[in-house]
Amino acid sequence: MRQRRLMDGSRTWLVGLFGLLIVAAIALGQRPALLASDPVVVDGTAVPDIGPLPTSVPMPPTNLNYKAKVDLGKQLYFDGRLSKSGAISCAFCHNPGTGFADPRQTSIGIGGGVGGRQSPTVYNTGFNHVQFWDGRAASLEEQAIGPIHNPIEMGETHENVVAKLSKIKGYREQFQAVFGTDVNLQGLAEAIAAYERTVISTDSDFDKYVTGNKRAMTESAIRGMAVFKGKGRCLLCHNGPNFTDNQFHNLGVPQVGPLKEDLGRYNVTRDERDKGALKTPTLRSIAETAPYMHDGAFATLEATVDFLDEGGGANSNLSPLIKKQGLSKGEKTDLIEFLKALSGEPIKFVMPKLP
Ligand code: HEC
Ligand code: HEC
Repeated sequence: MRQRRLMDGSRTWLVGLFGLLIVAAIALGQRPALLASDPVVVDGTAVPDIGPLPTSVPMPPTNLNYKAKVDLGKQLYFDGRLSKSGAISCAFCHNPGTGFADPRQTSIGIGGGVGGRQSPTVYNTGFNHVQFWDGRAASLEEQAIGPIHNPIEMGETHENVVAKLSKIKGYREQFQAVFGTDVNLQGLAEAIAAYERTVISTDSDFDKYVTGNKRAMTESAIRGMAVFKGKGRCLLCHNGPNFTDNQFHNLGVPQVGPLKEDLGRYNVTRDERDKGALKTPTLRSIAETAPYMHDGAFATLEATVDFLDEGGGANSNLSPLIKKQGLSKGEKTDLIEFLKALSGEPIKFVMPKLP
C-alpha cells in the first residue's frame, strides 16, 4: 500500500514537473518553434526537425489579436488608398491568389518602378524572427509602415496616408473602436500586423502525414522527405516547423533584375561575412509562390533544385553549408513532390468590404 502511494506520489510529482516545463516553454514562448521537436543530425550538425506548426502564432503582448483589429487590418491590407496613386495595396505584391506573394520576378510598384527584390510570401510571416530578405525589420508592426513611403512601392508619405484615411468615416470609427484613438500610423501598423498573423499556411499533406495519416503523402513525396532531411541536406537551413532557421546564407544565386549586386544581410550588420547572405525563406506553400529566390532568378522548383544540387553559384562568400550533392533524377523528382506537399489547406478567402 505504502509503496503504491509513494509511486502515485512520484507520478504526480513528475506530472507536475512536466506541467512546469510546459508553462516555462509557454513563458519563453515567443519562439515556440525550436521547442517543438527533437533535433536531427544532418552532416554532423544537430538541427531542429521539421514538423507541424504550433497552434498559435507568437504575438507581442502589446498587440494581441482580436476580431475587430484583424478585420480593420484586413481592410487596410487590401486598400489601395494607402498608396500615392490609390491603386497599390499590400495585396498588389502579396496577392492571396498567388500564395500571398508576387508572380513577377521583382516587384513593380507605383508608376511602374521596378524594385530590386522578389516579393516574399506573407504566409507564416508571423513565425519569422525578423522581416525582409535582409532581416532589417524586427517585427511585422515595424515592417508594415516601410512599403507605404518606399518611393518604388507605394510612394506615399505617412502624413498623407493618415490624412486620407482620417477623412473616411468607417476608418475613423474603427480606429476609435479598436484603439480608442484617431487614425494614426502606429494603429495602422498594428492592425495590418494583426491581420498578417492570421495568414497561415498549415494543414498541408506533410502536416497530415507527420501527425498520423500515413496516406496523406504520396510514396514519391515520402522518399522526397528523406532526401530533404538526408542526402539533399536541405534541413541544415530549412528546419523547424516553418522550414527556416531564420538565419542568413549566401547561396551564390545569380543576380538578375535591376540590382547589380545585393549585399543582403551585410546592409544591416556591415559584417563582411554577411555579404550576399539572405534570409532562409519558409518553404510552406512554396509551389504557389514562383518565381524563386530574393531576385526571382528561377522560374520553377525544378530549376531551383538543380541549382542547389550543383552546389549553388560561384561566389567568394558562398555558405560552407552549400555543397554539390549529386542527386539522381529520381531523387530530385521526389524532392519536388515533397515540396509540393507543403502547400497548406487553401484558406477560405473573402475580399473585405472597404469603408
Ligand atoms: C510594390 C510591391 C510591394 C508592395 C505594394 C508591398 N510589398 Fe511587402 N514586400 C515587397 C518586397 C519586394 C519585399 C522584400 C523586400 C526586401 O526584402 O527588401 C516585401 C517584404 C514584405 C514582408 C517581409 C516578409 C518576409 O518574409 O521577410 C512583409 C511581411 C510584407 N512585405 C508585407 C507588406 C505589407 C503589409 C504591405 C502593405 C502595407 C506591403 N508588403 C506592400 C513588395 C511589396
Ligand atoms: C545553407 C542554407 C541552405 C540550404 C542547405 C538550403 N537552402 Fe534553400 N534557401 C536558403 C536561402 C538563404 C535561400 C534564399 C537565397 C536567395 O534568395 O539568394 C533559399 C531559397 C530556397 C528556395 C526558394 C524559396 C523562395 O521563396 O524563393 C527553395 C525552393 C529552396 N531554398 C529549397 C531548398 C532545398 C530543396 C534544399 C535542399 C536541396 C535547400 N533549399 C537547401 C538556404 C538554404
